[in-house]
Amino acid sequence: MTATNGDPHGSSYGALTADDVARIRMDFPVLDQLINGKPLVYLDNAATTQKPRPVIDAISNYYLHNNANVHRGVHTLSQRATDDYEVGREAIRRFINAPDSSEIIYVRGTTEGLNLVASSYGRKFFKAGDEVIITGMEHHSNIVPWQILGKEIGIRLRVIPFTDQGELLMDEYESMLNERTRLVSVVHQSNALGTINPVSSIVEMAHARGIPVMIDAAQSIPHMPVDVQAMGADFLTFSGHKMYGPTGIGVLWGRADLLNEMPPYQSGGEMIRSVTYEETIYNVIPHKFEAGTPDIAGAIGLGAAVEYLEAIGMDRIAAYEQALMRYGAERLAEIEGVRLIGTAENRGGVLSFYMESAHAHDIGTILDAEGIAVRTGHHCAQPVMARYEIPATVRASLSFYNTTEEIDALIKGIDRVIEVFG
Ligand code: ALA
Repeated sequence: MTATNGDPHGSSYGALTADDVARIRMDFPVLDQLINGKPLVYLDNAATTQKPRPVIDAISNYYLHNNANVHRGVHTLSQRATDDYEVGREAIRRFINAPDSSEIIYVRGTTEGLNLVASSYGRKFFKAGDEVIITGMEHHSNIVPWQILGKEIGIRLRVIPFTDQGELLMDEYESMLNERTRLVSVVHQSNALGTINPVSSIVEMAHARGIPVMIDAAQSIPHMPVDVQAMGADFLTFSGHKMYGPTGIGVLWGRADLLNEMPPYQSGGEMIRSVTYEETIYNVIPHKFEAGTPDIAGAIGLGAAVEYLEAIGMDRIAAYEQALMRYGAERLAEIEGVRLIGTAENRGGVLSFYMESAHAHDIGTILDAEGIAVRTGHHCAQPVMARYEIPATVRASLSFYNTTEEIDALIKGIDRVIEVFG
């Protein structure tokens, strides 16, 4: 697989400089284009990030030279494909500081990670009257799987409320924990608000009562160091495509003792040790949860993305994106008629805003005419919109390849919206 060894971007310590960012941008061919005659300003990174050359090269290298199925052949190509697929798994283990690579399950993305735990862990361990606690700022993918279990089994969903700033009411959370609570499943960083939730405290309070905790790290893992052991989590899931890897691949990490107790989520090839018509013996983890031919190129690409991020340094990425977000929030606050939604003290690179004078989709269309890509709508978090009594927001979400000049372009684009809609 293509590896990015060492630091290709200059200094290893401190925040990224403008020169570092200029060099990084050259790794992302897609950024260098005009949209509607204007330089592309890509601010939709919470939906999906762009892909650097080492990721694109790792995927092409697999298809150009090594394409074969994994864990199924003695021939050289199959062994190369298997090696690269497993190198990816080990890179991910290192990236999240998991104790063992057998705990890294390749899935399609965060949605599948959450569904796997709901389906497998939930169906085995939950019964009518049991409770699952989530926050009021979850993506639909951390709401609907539990609702389905609610209909099937009769479990109850408890929702931690949050303040107008977008900060969880931790006292309310504490009062929800009781002998019926079977799982706490919370988002690390909200996709709609940017809030970074105090997951270590959430875990500590749940563990004090023997309750396991699942973390949705889809929006946090591309932007800050994530260490499952420091966090104390029991399950954690994320998507490759939001962390500079390909679409269609993601990870569920779980504690080995829990994964070993869980029944398979899907069945077929790879997840078995032996099959007769009378009985099937399941394979060990992670294979027990990887039925069928997996997304081999995706896993290899994700491994390359992890190496790329490690080479830049997650601390430097976090520091740079924080500064950019604070700059953007200050500039937006200067514009009359723009209301920032999500102003938690501890938040990531998300600038979600609402304008009374124009619908979010119209704002998005005007910004697109200026070459600026943002997401508009409810961001798959309709209860968050309901909490603020608004239908939708415009969301600019940042990456380490964005610049203050691009924030200035966004502000100019909003001026254009005001010219049109008042
Ligand atoms: N969940 C992704 C987002 O927030 C798609 O945009």
